[in-house]
Amino acid sequence: MSVSFPDKEKKRVEEIIEHYPQKKAAIGDVLYLAQKQFGHISPEVELYVASLLDLPASYVHQIVTFYTMYLENPVGKHLMLLCNNVSCMLCGAEDMLAKVEKKLGIGPGETTKDNKFTLWTVECLGACEMAPCLMIDDKLYGNLTVEKLDKLLDSVE
Ligand code: FES
Repeated sequence: MSVSFPDKEKKRVEEIIEHYPQKKAAIGDVLYLAQKQFGHISPEVELYVASLLDLPASYVHQIVTFYTMYLENPVGKHLMLLCNNVSCMLCGAEDMLAKVEKKLGIGPGETTKDNKFTLWTVECLGACEMAPCLMIDDKLYGNLTVEKLDKLLDSVE
């Protein structure tokens, strides 16, 4: 097995495991830590996490493939999640998508040539009252207009 956490993250895994009554319950946090460390959760990383938590690799794979927040493949430096569910659609999500496509030259599921942005469309970000909205990395942006989105994209380093 060639993937391995550095010592600091190994210590963090121990702390996470101690936090739960069962080792198995630490899987979400450990996967998130693995994703931060390795960029995405490859089959090799799944095996590594399974070994850390004494779980079958198939169990880890089920978790990774069920939750969209776990990345199975590499993405650009910034992952953009654009909501295209009802509230956001009614408030202009199609215009936001068109703006991203025009400004960055990518559609849903694509990454810019410079690897700066990956765009995904998602079903709901749980912020319908701020429609239309999107997330870039872990930050939510709502009440967007085409102009606000244009400035936002320019401001991302
Ligand atoms: S429909 Fe867009 S956040 Fe809920």
